[in-house]
Amino acid sequence: MKFRSSAWFGSKDRDGFIHRSWMKNQGLPDHLFDGRPVIGICNTWSELTPCNAHFRKLAEYVKRGVYEAGGFPLEFPVMSLGETLMRPTTMLFRNLVSMDVEESIRANPIDGVVLLAGCDKTTPALLMGAASCDLPALMVSGGPMLNGKFRGQDIGSGTDVWKFSEDVRRGTMSECDFVEAESCMNRSAGHCMTMGTASTMASVVEALGMGLPANAAIPAVDSRRYTLAHLAGNRIVGMVREDLRMSKILTREAFENAIRVVGAIGGSTNAVIHLLAIAGRVGVELSLDDWDRLGRGVPCLVNLMPSGKYLMEDFYYAGGLPAVIRELGELIHHGALTVNGKSIGDNVEDAQCYNRDVIKPTGEPLIADGGIAVLRGNLCPNGAVIKPSAATPGLMQHRGRAVVFESIEDFHVRIDDPKLEVDETSVMVLKNCGPRGYPGMPEVGNLPLPAKLLQRGIIDMVRISDARMSGTAYGTVVLHVAPEAASGGSLALVENGDLIDLDVGERRLHLDVSEAEIERRRAVWHPPAPPADRGYYKLYYDHVMQADRGADLDFLVGGSGVGVPRESH
Ligand code: FES
Repeated sequence: MKFRSSAWFGSKDRDGFIHRSWMKNQGLPDHLFDGRPVIGICNTWSELTPCNAHFRKLAEYVKRGVYEAGGFPLEFPVMSLGETLMRPTTMLFRNLVSMDVEESIRANPIDGVVLLAGCDKTTPALLMGAASCDLPALMVSGGPMLNGKFRGQDIGSGTDVWKFSEDVRRGTMSECDFVEAESCMNRSAGHCMTMGTASTMASVVEALGMGLPANAAIPAVDSRRYTLAHLAGNRIVGMVREDLRMSKILTREAFENAIRVVGAIGGSTNAVIHLLAIAGRVGVELSLDDWDRLGRGVPCLVNLMPSGKYLMEDFYYAGGLPAVIRELGELIHHGALTVNGKSIGDNVEDAQCYNRDVIKPTGEPLIADGGIAVLRGNLCPNGAVIKPSAATPGLMQHRGRAVVFESIEDFHVRIDDPKLEVDETSVMVLKNCGPRGYPGMPEVGNLPLPAKLLQRGIIDMVRISDARMSGTAYGTVVLHVAPEAASGGSLALVENGDLIDLDVGERRLHLDVSEAEIERRRAVWHPPAPPADRGYYKLYYDHVMQADRGADLDFLVGGSGVGVPRESH
């Protein structure tokens, strides 16, 4: 069988000499160029991405597996996206990384690829880029950190940051204790160990069939994470020999399985955007309405923060995602193919649950309806999302007066002003934080509550924006309003004191202002200035699609295959 890489390494002419000879400066022997499958290991390692900082070691284990199976592994870096440091937001760069991945694969002698991802955006970015090449690919997630431990209590990355910072503002936690908690929260290699976006997307990888069983939950420092990496190295060589490409795995059924799994795990709203974007790369029609339709009635079974109380380490010991998929029964398409060559149904046939408080039975779910709800109305004609499992039931039907913030900076300046006219019935509205507006659609949608309300014991309010929120966050938060304010969506036209109706049961979000008044406001509205007139910011601003289309760049939708480009010399 002749593989793609033979176009580089297979000829005895001048070009073959060049392709092999320079590689040999790394000590690679002749026999590695004998036509065996060349496996790229796409690595998002970076010390600026703490969640992925252990990936060089993970790659070593993938290499062992590749060599053992008769392949030739070659590790390559792509841009890494560290959620905690990058400004203005990693989401601005997800599509850029996908381009890096796609072009790195296509330009090089790669027959199959193992994708190493962990921190939030690295997972969708790598899947999107590889999907546009459509070659055999398998993802190994980096694994979650061990549980945070603070004064005898388990604490979750992200979720408890939001909680502690509100406690400090409310005056129930000292700054000294706050600083101490900093060292106790994130205490091992790995990504956030709550059911935030990283854990959600690692679960999505498994539910899509793009990772080996148990990929989602094994802690980063557990030896079995490295065993999984070794086995992934074994398996990718077989996938190349079988020509098991991504398009054979990423079918409509696979996406439907992933949507239902997100409901069952109480997963992050960010999964909505990322799955829409990944589907766009493989030509699977997927819409916001699919999320609402498929997610309805899916019970949330996994008792993890932010919807519940446990953490990923507990989830792994309780049986992890295979136990959840098995528990979902007929809600899952059992015949969907996975990277190990078996169906997802076969993979979970013998899965066991070892702790029924962590993974609930379908008959006794944590929350009866765990799916992400998609809202419509004159405030979000192209949709908005809310995560009911993280919201306050009493606020799911609410009518309140808008308190409007034109930007996140405006919010920070005014939120703790004692004169701000706001009470617990108000609806906080944040504008200009969408894909174009920020730019990059940051995770600022879970606006902190005004200190004066926190001090009165108020813990939740309705908040609406075109932003995203961290998967570790919680509250009655309406996100991803489309079209966004900066593109002239009606969100831009909301004024202080307007009445807003939210009815999650009816899937409705309505600005109670007359059509004539809305049109009057629209006529005098001016779009904000573009963020830049050159560089990637400009490319992004000119081409990014709205949240309901996955916020991909319009020209990246679809794929270009993995044909061999013309010779370089
Ligand atoms: Fe990297 Fe949460 S900051 S996964």
